[in-house]
Amino acid sequence: MIESNPSLASLIESASADVAELSGQAARWQAASPGRVNLIGEHTDYNQGRVLPMAIDRYIAMAAAPGVPGQIRVRSSAMAEERSLSLDQLHTPHGKPWMRYIQGVIAQYDQHDVRCPGLDVAVVSSVPMGGGLSSSAALELATAHLLEAVTGQTLTPAERIQASVQAERDMAGVPCGIMDQTVVELAASGQALLLDCLDQTARSVPFDSQALALLVIHSGVSHSLAEGAYAQRRAECERASALLGVNSLREVSPDQLARLKDEGVLHQRVTHVVTENERVRDAVTAIEQGCWDRLGALMTGSHRSLRDDYEVSCRELDLLVELATVERGVYGARMTGGGFGGCVIALVETDQFEGVADRISGQYNDRMGWAPGCYRVQAGAGAREICAAL
Ligand code: GLA
Repeated sequence: MIESNPSLASLIESASADVAELSGQAARWQAASPGRVNLIGEHTDYNQGRVLPMAIDRYIAMAAAPGVPGQIRVRSSAMAEERSLSLDQLHTPHGKPWMRYIQGVIAQYDQHDVRCPGLDVAVVSSVPMGGGLSSSAALELATAHLLEAVTGQTLTPAERIQASVQAERDMAGVPCGIMDQTVVELAASGQALLLDCLDQTARSVPFDSQALALLVIHSGVSHSLAEGAYAQRRAECERASALLGVNSLREVSPDQLARLKDEGVLHQRVTHVVTENERVRDAVTAIEQGCWDRLGALMTGSHRSLRDDYEVSCRELDLLVELATVERGVYGARMTGGGFGGCVIALVETDQFEGVADRISGQYNDRMGWAPGCYRVQAGAGAREICAAL
């Protein structure tokens, strides 16, 4: 069964109603930000490589009203929790991990001399949590835009992205790249975003063919990138760069890759990064030419590389990809995001969508004992565009 998708307007309405209940005053400020899927280009962003993510039509919405000075009180319906944060303790990580994303962004804005006043805040979400769909980047960018609405002070999009990336690194302890926050802020409706992390240039790639539908399947296994495997992969890439004498793995040529052939795991990691960068370039061509078979094959190839060479998949994700790729009407499938759980995306012929989702869901349930979450997503607008229209 496909999960329902509440509209952005209804999410904002419900955040506003929640904050009115919390504070006893009408909501005065609102902001929202989408989650994202990455079509292809995984674990390449922190290697100065190419990525091709898109924002999705699933959002985190926030509403706020004036609160007690020196304090932020947040009600999150997604977490079914209410927590407070003292504004004079911005640099001591909050006890609740989800609050740290909000805290981290407020702390970053503080360094830009944007001071957050006391606030009551409500958060609602239609982005599945812990699914590798960047609910954390969505929370960061929604907080950034909310803070700008409250204070009337604005940062540039690049500063906003940097503040959110830094918040994630400082407060969640994940040495993440720039992909998630960049796409969540800059995406345009109906477009994927080709981001070159070497010079941080971005270009939109139309991705709204009526013939195609994107299925997101949540394995039901939650990942925690902070557990160390992400940082370990990053450190391995840095070690390989040092061995090869390059600034980043983006520069590695086939000859240099061959020089690592006796380095076991490092050879595998670099093989993934080098081939994944090529797959991103080829995927853009495939999209621009409407070659969906080709795009699907590149996606499935990306999954194999992440599974075998980069070793960031897990058996639940592998099973979902296997179930998807034997279906007629599926062009290709891969894990999306950091890995170790979370979601798989499958590129499906639109008129086969419901049947494909039902069959994968049923077979996964038979094998694992629980049904995966199935979502249909479209390329949506980024936080900048959404918040400008609020
Ligand atoms: C997480 C990180 C991103 C990126 C992906 C893997 O989502 O936040 O920066 O590295 O993993 O592609």
